Amino acid sequence: MSIGNLQETTSGNKAAVPPQIDREALARRIDELGEWFHNLDLYGVPTAPNHFLGDFPNVKWRHIASVIPPDLSGATVLDIGCNGGFYSLEMKRRGAERVLGIDVDDRYLNQARFAAKTLGLEIEFEKRSVYEVDRIPGQFDYVLFMGVLYHLRYPLFALDKVVKKVGGKLLFQTMIRGSEQVRAWEKNYHFWNKDIFTHPEFPCMYFIENSYANDPTNWWLPNRGAAEAMLRSSGLEITAHPEPETWLCVPREVARQGQYILDMELAGIL
Ligand SMILES: C[S@@+](CC[C@H](N)C(=O)[O-])C[C@H]1O[C@@H](n2cnc3c(N)ncnc32)[C@H](O)[C@@H]1O
Repeated sequence: MSIGNLQETTSGNKAAVPPQIDREALARRIDELGEWFHNLDLYGVPTAPNHFLGDFPNVKWRHIASVIPPDLSGATVLDIGCNGGFYSLEMKRRGAERVLGIDVDDRYLNQARFAAKTLGLEIEFEKRSVYEVDRIPGQFDYVLFMGVLYHLRYPLFALDKVVKKVGGKLLFQTMIRGSEQVRAWEKNYHFWNKDIFTHPEFPCMYFIENSYANDPTNWWLPNRGAAEAMLRSSGLEITAHPEPETWLCVPREVARQGQYILDMELAGIL
């Protein structure tokens, strides 16, 4: 289906030159690609205008955008669980040299490919699970691990794998439930100290046996204390917390005696 002349595209931070496009045909193609989770603006045509979270993920990005440099020239980016490509597109618009988006869902990958092509942005999209992320060669200046952790049965296993790919910074987001407050805890507690577990701020992950928000893939919902403790435990240092569910981190102690935490754990020597 032709959607008109799409050669004129957005690129970098330059203003888009509105191409002569057939918006009705574009809307039909968007519709054919199935239900979208990302509300992208494709030349004025929204892909998910009725999203239950509003203009998503723009509503989130608005608070996060300032912790990522406006000029990403030369940078490499890995977007894990890229979905319809919102964050991959934003990184490419900032001039990133290479953006690789991965996801396990073909519908989302097809949407992302269509959006990037429509906007004339060169982004690689690949079907790959976060559990296979360590098979991707090299490291990336920016790794985005947004909105995926709580969908995993093995969240810390995944996070420890993701850490291996972080050459520069990790932008991490998870749904948070329970307390959004944090406080300092002792390094150790006596076996009979049961009180700490009654504090709402004590790091805690809620396990969802059946379904939450009508989504049976929501498995583990951390409170803020647990989200931050997991990041630290995977060897990351939190450098920014731009909104309640999102953290920017840098690798600090991801390896011990030259071995990654994951490899030590799997070898039984952590
Ligand atoms: C809630 S959406 C988040 C999308 C996007 N990262 C964001 O923050 O808006 C979760 C995404 O993770 C993907 N996903 C779920 N399990 C995954 C896995 N094991 N590996 C990679 N992606 C996964 C889903 O297909 C979906 O696109």
